[in-house]
Amino acid sequence: SLPVDSVQVLASSLTTSDHIPTRYIRPEAESEPVIIPGDAEEDVPVIDFHKLLDHELSKAESSKLHLACQNWGFFQLINHGVSEEVIQKMMFVIEEFFKLPSDEKMLVKQRPGQVDGYGQLFVISEEQKLDWADILVYRTWPLHLRKIGLWPTNPSSFRDALDEYSMEVKRLANCLLGLMATNLGVDPPEITANLENGSQSVRINCYPPCPEDNKVLGLSPHSDASILTLVLQVNDVPGLQIKRNDKWLPVKPLPGAFVANVGDALEIISNGKYKSIEHRAVTNTQKERFSIAVFHGPERNGTVGPHPELVLQGEPLYKSMDFESYMKLYLTSKLDGKSFLGRLKL
Ligand code: SIN
Ligand code: FE2
Repeated sequence: SLPVDSVQVLASSLTTSDHIPTRYIRPEAESEPVIIPGDAEEDVPVIDFHKLLDHELSKAESSKLHLACQNWGFFQLINHGVSEEVIQKMMFVIEEFFKLPSDEKMLVKQRPGQVDGYGQLFVISEEQKLDWADILVYRTWPLHLRKIGLWPTNPSSFRDALDEYSMEVKRLANCLLGLMATNLGVDPPEITANLENGSQSVRINCYPPCPEDNKVLGLSPHSDASILTLVLQVNDVPGLQIKRNDKWLPVKPLPGAFVANVGDALEIISNGKYKSIEHRAVTNTQKERFSIAVFHGPERNGTVGPHPELVLQGEPLYKSMDFESYMKLYLTSKLDGKSFLGRLKL
Protein backbone atom coordinates (compact mmCIF):
# COMPACT_ATOMS: atom_id res chain seq x y z
CA SER A 1 0.00 0.00 0.00
CA LEU A 2 0.90 3.62 -0.30
CA PRO A 3 2.14 5.31 2.82
CA VAL A 4 -0.80 7.04 4.51
CA ASP A 5 -0.59 9.19 7.63
CA SER A 6 -1.95 8.00 10.92
CA VAL A 7 -5.56 9.04 11.38
CA GLN A 8 -5.06 9.14 15.14
CA VAL A 9 -2.39 11.80 14.67
CA LEU A 10 -4.55 13.70 12.19
CA ALA A 11 -7.61 13.50 14.45
CA SER A 12 -5.75 14.75 17.49
CA SER A 13 -4.50 17.79 15.56
CA LEU A 14 -7.98 18.82 14.39
CA THR A 15 -10.19 21.30 16.17
CA THR A 16 -13.82 21.70 15.13
CA SER A 17 -13.04 24.69 12.96
CA ASP A 18 -10.38 22.84 10.96
CA HIS A 19 -11.15 21.34 7.65
CA ILE A 20 -10.76 17.64 7.22
CA PRO A 21 -8.40 16.81 4.34
CA THR A 22 -10.46 16.19 1.20
CA ARG A 23 -9.07 12.68 0.83
CA TYR A 24 -11.26 11.69 3.76
CA ILE A 25 -14.45 13.51 2.74
CA ARG A 26 -17.19 11.16 1.53
CA PRO A 27 -20.19 13.05 0.15
CA GLU A 28 -22.14 9.79 -0.13
CA ALA A 29 -21.75 9.10 3.59
CA GLU A 30 -24.17 11.90 4.44
CA SER A 31 -26.77 11.25 1.80
CA GLU A 32 -27.49 7.54 2.25
CA PRO A 33 -30.42 6.69 4.54
CA VAL A 34 -29.66 5.17 7.91
CA ILE A 35 -32.31 3.30 9.86
CA ILE A 36 -32.63 4.90 13.29
CA PRO A 37 -32.06 2.21 15.94
CA GLY A 38 -35.37 1.37 17.56
CA ASP A 39 -37.32 2.24 14.41
CA ALA A 40 -36.39 -0.96 12.70
CA GLU A 41 -39.16 -3.51 12.67
CA GLU A 42 -36.52 -6.18 12.74
CA ASP A 43 -33.05 -6.39 14.16
CA VAL A 44 -29.97 -8.43 13.32
CA PRO A 45 -30.74 -11.97 14.56
CA VAL A 46 -29.16 -13.14 17.80
CA ILE A 47 -27.93 -16.73 17.87
CA ASP A 48 -27.18 -18.49 21.12
CA PHE A 49 -24.16 -20.71 20.58
CA HIS A 50 -24.83 -22.59 23.80
CA LYS A 51 -28.25 -23.59 22.50
CA LEU A 52 -26.72 -24.75 19.21
CA LEU A 53 -24.78 -27.35 21.18
CA ASP A 54 -27.62 -28.29 23.52
CA HIS A 55 -29.21 -31.66 22.89
CA GLU A 56 -32.77 -30.39 23.18
CA LEU A 57 -32.45 -26.88 21.87
CA SER A 58 -30.08 -27.35 18.97
CA LYS A 59 -32.65 -28.14 16.33
CA ALA A 60 -34.63 -24.94 16.75
CA GLU A 61 -31.50 -22.81 17.15
CA SER A 62 -29.91 -24.38 14.04
CA SER A 63 -32.95 -23.42 11.97
CA LYS A 64 -32.59 -19.92 13.30
CA LEU A 65 -28.94 -19.96 12.28
CA HIS A 66 -29.81 -21.20 8.80
CA LEU A 67 -32.39 -18.45 8.32
CA ALA A 68 -29.93 -15.85 9.61
CA CYS A 69 -27.32 -16.99 7.06
CA GLN A 70 -29.86 -17.05 4.24
CA ASN A 71 -31.84 -13.91 4.94
CA TRP A 72 -29.36 -11.70 6.72
CA GLY A 73 -25.78 -12.83 6.18
CA PHE A 74 -25.19 -11.30 9.62
CA PHE A 75 -26.00 -12.34 13.17
CA GLN A 76 -24.85 -11.68 16.70
CA LEU A 77 -23.46 -14.67 18.55
CA ILE A 78 -23.95 -14.86 22.30
CA ASN A 79 -22.87 -17.52 24.82
CA HIS A 80 -20.06 -18.36 22.42
CA GLY A 81 -17.72 -19.81 25.02
CA VAL A 82 -14.66 -17.74 24.16
CA SER A 83 -13.28 -17.03 27.59
CA GLU A 84 -13.92 -13.66 29.13
CA GLU A 85 -10.31 -13.52 30.28
CA VAL A 86 -8.95 -13.99 26.76
CA ILE A 87 -11.26 -11.28 25.45
CA GLN A 88 -10.39 -8.87 28.26
CA LYS A 89 -6.70 -9.41 27.70
CA MET A 90 -7.07 -8.74 23.98
CA MET A 91 -9.08 -5.57 24.62
CA PHE A 92 -6.44 -4.38 27.03
CA VAL A 93 -3.50 -4.80 24.65
CA ILE A 94 -5.36 -3.08 21.82
CA GLU A 95 -6.21 -0.03 23.87
CA GLU A 96 -2.66 0.12 25.24
CA PHE A 97 -1.08 -0.24 21.80
CA PHE A 98 -3.10 2.56 20.26
CA LYS A 99 -2.20 4.85 23.18
CA LEU A 100 1.52 4.54 22.38
CA PRO A 101 3.41 7.40 20.76
CA SER A 102 3.71 7.18 16.98
CA ASP A 103 7.37 6.17 16.85
CA GLU A 104 6.60 3.21 19.06
CA LYS A 105 3.77 2.07 16.77
CA MET A 106 6.02 2.51 13.76
CA LEU A 107 8.19 -0.33 15.05
CA VAL A 108 5.58 -2.72 13.67
CA LYS A 109 4.78 -0.75 10.52
CA GLN A 110 3.76 -2.83 7.49
CA ARG A 111 6.57 -3.46 5.06
CA PRO A 112 5.96 -2.13 1.52
CA GLY A 113 3.62 -4.41 -0.38
CA GLN A 114 3.04 -6.66 2.65
CA VAL A 115 -0.11 -7.12 4.70
CA ASP A 116 1.10 -7.76 8.24
CA GLY A 117 1.57 -4.91 10.70
CA TYR A 118 0.42 -1.39 11.49
CA GLY A 119 -0.81 0.52 8.46
CA GLN A 120 -3.60 0.26 5.92
CA LEU A 121 -5.16 -2.07 3.40
CA PHE A 122 -6.83 -1.44 0.05
CA VAL A 123 -5.05 1.83 -0.65
CA ILE A 124 -4.33 1.47 -4.34
CA SER A 125 -4.12 5.02 -5.65
CA GLU A 126 -3.26 8.58 -4.62
CA GLU A 127 -6.73 9.73 -5.67
CA GLN A 128 -8.99 7.36 -3.82
CA LYS A 129 -10.88 8.30 -0.67
CA LEU A 130 -9.40 7.13 2.60
CA ASP A 131 -10.96 5.52 5.64
CA TRP A 132 -10.97 7.26 9.02
CA ALA A 133 -9.09 4.50 10.82
CA ASP A 134 -5.71 3.10 11.75
CA ILE A 135 -5.35 -0.65 11.67
CA LEU A 136 -3.21 -3.58 12.70
CA VAL A 137 -3.42 -6.63 10.42
CA TYR A 138 -1.99 -10.06 11.12
CA ARG A 139 -2.14 -13.44 9.50
CA THR A 140 -2.57 -15.82 12.42
CA TRP A 141 -3.11 -19.18 10.70
CA PRO A 142 -1.41 -21.28 9.41
CA LEU A 143 1.29 -20.75 12.00
CA HIS A 144 4.13 -20.61 9.50
CA LEU A 145 2.61 -17.49 7.94
CA ARG A 146 2.79 -15.56 11.19
CA LYS A 147 5.14 -12.59 10.89
CA ILE A 148 5.90 -12.60 14.59
CA GLY A 149 8.55 -9.90 14.23
CA LEU A 150 5.76 -7.46 13.35
CA TRP A 151 3.59 -8.36 16.34
CA PRO A 152 3.95 -5.60 18.96
CA THR A 153 5.99 -6.27 22.10
CA ASN A 154 4.52 -3.20 23.74
CA PRO A 155 2.43 -3.84 25.75
CA SER A 156 4.44 -6.91 26.65
CA SER A 157 1.40 -9.20 26.72
CA PHE A 158 0.36 -8.31 23.16
CA ARG A 159 1.73 -11.40 21.42
CA ASP A 160 0.30 -13.79 24.00
CA ALA A 161 -3.05 -12.06 23.88
CA LEU A 162 -3.32 -12.25 20.09
CA ASP A 163 -2.16 -15.87 20.03
CA GLU A 164 -4.73 -16.96 22.61
CA TYR A 165 -7.51 -14.86 21.15
CA SER A 166 -6.99 -16.05 17.59
CA MET A 167 -6.81 -19.72 18.63
CA GLU A 168 -10.00 -19.54 20.71
CA VAL A 169 -11.86 -17.70 17.98
CA LYS A 170 -10.65 -20.23 15.46
CA ARG A 171 -12.05 -23.09 17.51
CA LEU A 172 -15.36 -21.28 17.67
CA ALA A 173 -15.36 -20.61 13.92
CA ASN A 174 -14.58 -24.26 13.16
CA CYS A 175 -17.47 -25.41 15.27
CA LEU A 176 -19.89 -22.85 13.88
CA LEU A 177 -18.88 -23.67 10.32
CA GLY A 178 -19.48 -27.36 11.00
CA LEU A 179 -23.05 -26.53 11.99
CA MET A 180 -23.45 -24.25 8.98
CA ALA A 181 -22.21 -27.00 6.66
CA THR A 182 -24.77 -29.39 8.13
CA ASN A 183 -27.45 -26.77 7.57
CA LEU A 184 -26.35 -26.48 3.95
CA GLY A 185 -26.59 -30.23 3.60
CA VAL A 186 -22.90 -30.93 3.02
CA ASP A 187 -20.59 -32.98 5.16
CA PRO A 188 -19.18 -30.78 7.92
CA PRO A 189 -15.62 -31.87 7.12
CA GLU A 190 -16.04 -30.52 3.60
CA ILE A 191 -15.95 -27.03 5.00
CA THR A 192 -14.38 -27.50 8.41
CA ALA A 193 -11.55 -29.72 7.25
CA ASN A 194 -10.90 -27.00 4.78
CA LEU A 195 -10.74 -24.62 7.64
CA GLU A 196 -8.45 -26.72 9.80
CA ASN A 197 -5.93 -26.37 7.00
CA GLY A 198 -7.52 -23.06 6.30
CA SER A 199 -6.47 -19.50 6.84
CA GLN A 200 -7.19 -16.97 9.52
CA SER A 201 -6.26 -13.33 9.72
CA VAL A 202 -7.06 -10.60 12.18
CA ARG A 203 -7.74 -6.95 11.51
CA ILE A 204 -7.77 -4.63 14.51
CA ASN A 205 -9.49 -1.33 13.79
CA CYS A 206 -8.99 1.91 15.67
CA TYR A 207 -11.48 4.60 14.62
CA PRO A 208 -10.54 7.96 16.18
CA PRO A 209 -13.36 10.42 16.82
CA CYS A 210 -13.96 12.90 14.02
CA PRO A 211 -15.26 16.46 14.56
CA GLU A 212 -17.36 16.12 11.40
CA ASP A 213 -18.25 12.49 11.73
CA ASN A 214 -20.98 12.54 9.08
CA LYS A 215 -18.47 13.58 6.40
CA VAL A 216 -16.10 10.62 6.74
CA LEU A 217 -16.31 6.83 6.89
CA GLY A 218 -14.36 4.65 9.28
CA LEU A 219 -14.45 1.79 6.84
CA SER A 220 -15.69 1.87 3.24
CA PRO A 221 -18.69 -0.25 2.26
CA HIS A 222 -17.52 -3.76 1.44
CA SER A 223 -18.24 -7.43 1.86
CA ASP A 224 -15.52 -9.68 3.31
CA ALA A 225 -13.45 -12.07 1.20
CA SER A 226 -13.63 -14.69 3.96
CA ILE A 227 -15.85 -17.70 4.53
CA LEU A 228 -16.85 -16.52 8.00
CA THR A 229 -15.88 -13.37 9.90
CA LEU A 230 -16.26 -12.91 13.64
CA VAL A 231 -16.15 -9.29 14.81
CA LEU A 232 -15.88 -8.04 18.35
CA GLN A 233 -17.02 -4.47 18.92
CA VAL A 234 -14.44 -3.99 21.61
CA ASN A 235 -15.48 -1.02 23.70
CA ASP A 236 -19.22 -1.13 22.99
CA VAL A 237 -19.12 2.06 20.90
CA PRO A 238 -21.51 1.67 17.95
CA GLY A 239 -20.28 2.15 14.39
CA LEU A 240 -20.90 -1.00 12.37
CA GLN A 241 -23.73 -0.76 9.85
CA ILE A 242 -25.04 -3.32 7.40
CA LYS A 243 -26.87 -2.77 4.12
CA ARG A 244 -30.44 -3.96 4.44
CA ASN A 245 -33.15 -3.12 1.89
CA ASP A 246 -30.98 -0.32 0.50
CA LYS A 247 -30.61 1.35 3.87
CA TRP A 248 -27.88 1.24 6.48
CA LEU A 249 -28.85 -0.61 9.63
CA PRO A 250 -26.64 -0.01 12.69
CA VAL A 251 -25.60 -3.17 14.53
CA LYS A 252 -25.98 -2.39 18.20
CA PRO A 253 -23.00 -3.73 20.16
CA LEU A 254 -24.14 -6.46 22.54
CA PRO A 255 -21.48 -6.56 25.25
CA GLY A 256 -19.23 -9.58 24.77
CA ALA A 257 -21.06 -10.84 21.66
CA PHE A 258 -19.45 -11.58 18.32
CA VAL A 259 -20.98 -10.21 15.18
CA ALA A 260 -20.72 -13.06 12.69
CA ASN A 261 -20.98 -12.57 8.98
CA VAL A 262 -21.02 -14.61 5.83
CA GLY A 263 -18.13 -13.68 3.55
CA ASP A 264 -17.85 -13.75 -0.24
CA ALA A 265 -16.12 -17.15 -0.18
CA LEU A 266 -19.11 -18.72 1.57
CA GLU A 267 -21.52 -17.09 -0.85
CA ILE A 268 -19.47 -18.72 -3.61
CA ILE A 269 -19.09 -22.13 -1.89
CA SER A 270 -22.83 -22.24 -1.12
CA ASN A 271 -23.54 -21.19 -4.71
CA GLY A 272 -25.48 -18.16 -3.55
CA LYS A 273 -27.56 -19.86 -0.88
CA TYR A 274 -25.87 -17.82 1.83
CA LYS A 275 -25.16 -14.22 0.95
CA SER A 276 -22.32 -11.96 1.98
CA ILE A 277 -23.64 -8.57 3.01
CA GLU A 278 -22.26 -5.14 2.38
CA HIS A 279 -21.30 -3.33 5.56
CA ARG A 280 -19.34 -0.27 6.66
CA ALA A 281 -18.17 1.49 9.80
CA VAL A 282 -18.98 5.07 10.77
CA THR A 283 -17.28 7.25 13.36
CA ASN A 284 -18.59 9.66 15.97
CA THR A 285 -17.47 13.01 17.35
CA GLN A 286 -16.69 11.89 20.90
CA LYS A 287 -15.29 8.45 21.33
CA GLU A 288 -12.56 6.38 19.84
CA ARG A 289 -13.96 3.05 18.67
CA PHE A 290 -12.17 -0.28 18.46
CA SER A 291 -13.16 -3.48 16.73
CA ILE A 292 -11.45 -6.77 15.97
CA ALA A 293 -12.42 -8.64 12.82
CA VAL A 294 -11.22 -12.23 12.53
CA PHE A 295 -11.46 -13.66 9.03
CA HIS A 296 -11.63 -17.39 8.36
CA GLY A 297 -10.92 -18.49 4.84
CA PRO A 298 -10.23 -21.59 2.78
CA GLU A 299 -6.90 -23.32 2.79
CA ARG A 300 -4.09 -21.37 1.18
CA ASN A 301 -3.51 -23.77 -1.67
CA GLY A 302 -7.14 -24.72 -2.07
CA THR A 303 -9.79 -23.49 -4.44
CA VAL A 304 -12.72 -21.15 -3.90
CA GLY A 305 -15.69 -22.31 -5.95
CA PRO A 306 -19.26 -23.56 -5.68
CA HIS A 307 -19.42 -26.83 -3.75
CA PRO A 308 -20.29 -29.60 -6.26
CA GLU A 309 -23.14 -30.90 -4.09
CA LEU A 310 -24.69 -27.47 -3.99
CA VAL A 311 -24.80 -26.95 -7.74
CA LEU A 312 -26.30 -30.32 -8.67
CA GLN A 313 -29.77 -28.86 -9.07
CA GLY A 314 -28.65 -25.82 -10.96
CA GLU A 315 -25.79 -24.07 -12.62
CA PRO A 316 -22.72 -22.80 -10.83
CA LEU A 317 -23.25 -19.09 -10.29
CA TYR A 318 -19.60 -18.23 -9.64
CA LYS A 319 -16.21 -18.95 -11.11
CA SER A 320 -13.85 -21.23 -9.23
CA MET A 321 -10.41 -19.90 -8.60
CA ASP A 322 -7.39 -20.80 -6.54
CA PHE A 323 -7.36 -19.10 -3.16
CA GLU A 324 -4.04 -17.32 -3.63
CA SER A 325 -5.28 -15.56 -6.77
CA TYR A 326 -8.62 -14.91 -5.10
CA MET A 327 -6.97 -13.16 -2.15
CA LYS A 328 -4.56 -11.28 -4.36
CA LEU A 329 -7.42 -9.95 -6.43
CA TYR A 330 -9.29 -8.91 -3.28
CA LEU A 331 -6.35 -7.19 -1.66
CA THR A 332 -5.42 -5.25 -4.79
CA SER A 333 -8.96 -3.98 -5.28
CA LYS A 334 -10.50 -0.91 -3.75
CA LEU A 335 -13.16 -1.72 -1.13
CA ASP A 336 -16.31 -1.00 -3.05
CA GLY A 337 -19.47 -2.69 -1.89
CA LYS A 338 -19.91 -6.11 -3.47
CA SER A 339 -18.07 -5.20 -6.67
CA PHE A 340 -15.35 -7.77 -6.00
CA LEU A 341 -17.82 -10.65 -5.85
CA GLY A 342 -19.58 -9.25 -8.89
CA ARG A 343 -16.44 -9.90 -10.87
CA LEU A 344 -16.58 -13.59 -9.98
CA LYS A 345 -20.16 -14.11 -11.10
CA LEU A 346 -20.78 -16.32 -14.08
C1 SIN B 1 -14.97 -4.97 9.47
O1 SIN B 1 -15.91 -4.98 8.68
O2 SIN B 1 -13.90 -5.51 9.20
C2 SIN B 1 -15.05 -4.29 10.82
C3 SIN B 1 -16.34 -3.63 11.08
C4 SIN B 1 -16.33 -2.93 12.40
O3 SIN B 1 -15.46 -2.09 12.67
O4 SIN B 1 -17.22 -3.19 13.22
FE1 FE2 C 1 -15.83 -6.44 6.96
